[in-house]
Amino acid sequence: MVGFAPLYPPYKVITDSSVRKILVTSALPYANGSIHIGHLVEYIQTDIWVRFQKLRGNECYYVCADDAHGTPIMLRAQQAGIAPEELIAGFNAEHQADFREFAIEFDNYYSTHSSENRVLAGQIYQSLKDGGHIISRTISQAYDPEKQMFLPDRFVRGECPKCGAKDQYGDNCESCGATYNPTDLKNPISAVSGATPIEKDSEHFFVNLSDFETMLQEWMSDSNVLHPAVKHKLNEWFESGLQAWDISRDAPYFGFEIPDQPGKYFYVWLDAPVGYMASFQNLCNRENIDFNEFWSADSEAELYHFIGKDIVYFHSLFWPAMLTAAGFRKPTAIFVHGFLTVDGQKMSKSRGTFINARTYLDNLDPEYLRYYFAAKLGNGVDDLDLNLDDFIQRVNSDLVGKIVNIASRCSGFITKRFDGKLAASLADSELYQFFLDKETVIASAYENREYNKLVREIMALADRANQYVDQYKPWVMAKQADKEVELQAVCSQALNLFRVLMSYLSPILPLMASKVEDFLAAALIWKPEPLLDHSINKFKPLMKRVEQKQVDAMIKPKETKEAEPEFLDYEDFAKVDLRIAHIVKAEHVEGAAKLLRLTLDVGEEKTRNVFAGIKDAYTPEELTGRFTLMVANLKPRKMRFGFSEGMVLAAGPGKKEIFLLQPDDGAKAGMRVK
Ligand code: MSP
Ligand code: ZN
Repeated sequence: MVGFAPLYPPYKVITDSSVRKILVTSALPYANGSIHIGHLVEYIQTDIWVRFQKLRGNECYYVCADDAHGTPIMLRAQQAGIAPEELIAGFNAEHQADFREFAIEFDNYYSTHSSENRVLAGQIYQSLKDGGHIISRTISQAYDPEKQMFLPDRFVRGECPKCGAKDQYGDNCESCGATYNPTDLKNPISAVSGATPIEKDSEHFFVNLSDFETMLQEWMSDSNVLHPAVKHKLNEWFESGLQAWDISRDAPYFGFEIPDQPGKYFYVWLDAPVGYMASFQNLCNRENIDFNEFWSADSEAELYHFIGKDIVYFHSLFWPAMLTAAGFRKPTAIFVHGFLTVDGQKMSKSRGTFINARTYLDNLDPEYLRYYFAAKLGNGVDDLDLNLDDFIQRVNSDLVGKIVNIASRCSGFITKRFDGKLAASLADSELYQFFLDKETVIASAYENREYNKLVREIMALADRANQYVDQYKPWVMAKQADKEVELQAVCSQALNLFRVLMSYLSPILPLMASKVEDFLAAALIWKPEPLLDHSINKFKPLMKRVEQKQVDAMIKPKETKEAEPEFLDYEDFAKVDLRIAHIVKAEHVEGAAKLLRLTLDVGEEKTRNVFAGIKDAYTPEELTGRFTLMVANLKPRKMRFGFSEGMVLAAGPGKKEIFLLQPDDGAKAGMRVK
């Protein structure tokens, strides 16, 4: 293998004979949701880098896993009426299938809910404790008295203490941007049960992060470890002082119980990064790789974490501190990318731009996206935009119009006129050498994750190859009896140039690359010797043009199929808590065309707030004082205007036929309906 010294940043000078040992990770996706195209920025970025390292002959491993612990996962499983283990197994299978189809090739894809991870997380915790870095403090936290659980900030909702905006999360206000504690919210409710949270004390364990400040400062002073923009952010954190990190959570929690603290669990972010090690450990056991060679404090191997800008704190402060405390090595570098926007805006469900991996795959070729992301990705932290018009245009003009075009214009003549045989010598070896000489620029751009730069280089070469074909016009030569030799020479030259281009592109387009290998009956390797006097196979289309209608279909909300009538089990029906509700107040909702806000008395201490789409049928005055039927145990639902805590029932086409009981029917608020 040929050694390779990157130009910038200068990681390590590699001597010719040495093979780099490299361990690479992408952040572990949460196990309670599907992979979407935002996630894919990261997995595609990482996969390209890993494929490049492998192509260069380095010993490189790419591991990942599902991040399977935490309150949201526990609650989601409860909601679905299944065990969390079942929920995470389902998502694990789904994630792996999505990644596989996007040609994201992990050496191991695991789960943080694994025995390896339990052992390693316990070991790191023990080291932190032995080193005197764990402190205990009693803290007061929002607690759901009904569900009997402490509530993470995101599960407390209420009015912003600063601007009064309704229905805000417990940690920050989406309306005015204020940050605060859940206990500061006015009229807070638990998003789990709808109950009013109380404050409750509990003992928590913290990692004293400031113990590691000197080590962290020193680690990041090496210019290769973090991008300057990320370092800048870290400096701000250092300046404002490192806070102790709360690593424990109370039961009920889905995670690892802290070995010496029954009823207390590791916070999901404690064992999540350990999941990188655990996944690798699992791979080592399977394939006889030496784990310590990659993780011991004096390891010579390189370790890189690809992450998004939202999780820098965890990876650049907590994680190196944990590793150091436990006597492991620290990351060689952390590669941080920005966030994906679609057509210049945050991905949005209502615009159809919150695109799941599966939705994309149902409509489009995965390599279009791999190419488009590569064409736009640099090594900085800037956000990246998927502009759908530009996407269509770029893929069609670059991949179909430039790259595939070279092969499709020349291959037919070789097959038909020369029995599939390429010429015995190169027509323009200087041009071929020119293509090979771009190798250093392209390789260092790969190494430095400047994919946008190398795509530009490769497309400039593709233009050059097309110019070559245009200059000699094989389709004209083919009609001239005396141009046989030249025809074969020109087509062979062009196909050899095409091969060099495809070998440069193979980390980005592995699926197309493998079709090209079949077509050329030759491997795509870095800096290939030309194929001479070599038989190729018949050309088959390598990539189709993207059609506007495919993109439209992808962002169009799926039509929901008419549901087949289904019978309800008695048990299911019995779960519905139907009650008579007294409409205490009915009011207009500003900005809502159909909704009225109802304040309902259902015989409980507190009235309920329910939004009902009955504005067409009734004025607020007509409703006030009347009775209606409601589903009282519907999970509180966040709507654009606030939380709706139940649903009123109505019948008829939606105008005046809505069924309401009159006050003199003998109805009482809270009466249960059987
Ligand atoms: N589970 C944590 C990571 C634990 S790593 C020890 C997590 N999961 S995530 O599913 O929310 O995100 C996984 C990765 O995808 C993160 O690096 C995150 O930054 C990235 N992205 C999620 N949405 C994204 C975009 N819209 N755009 C680009 N990257 C995004 O965080
Ligand atoms: Zn606010």
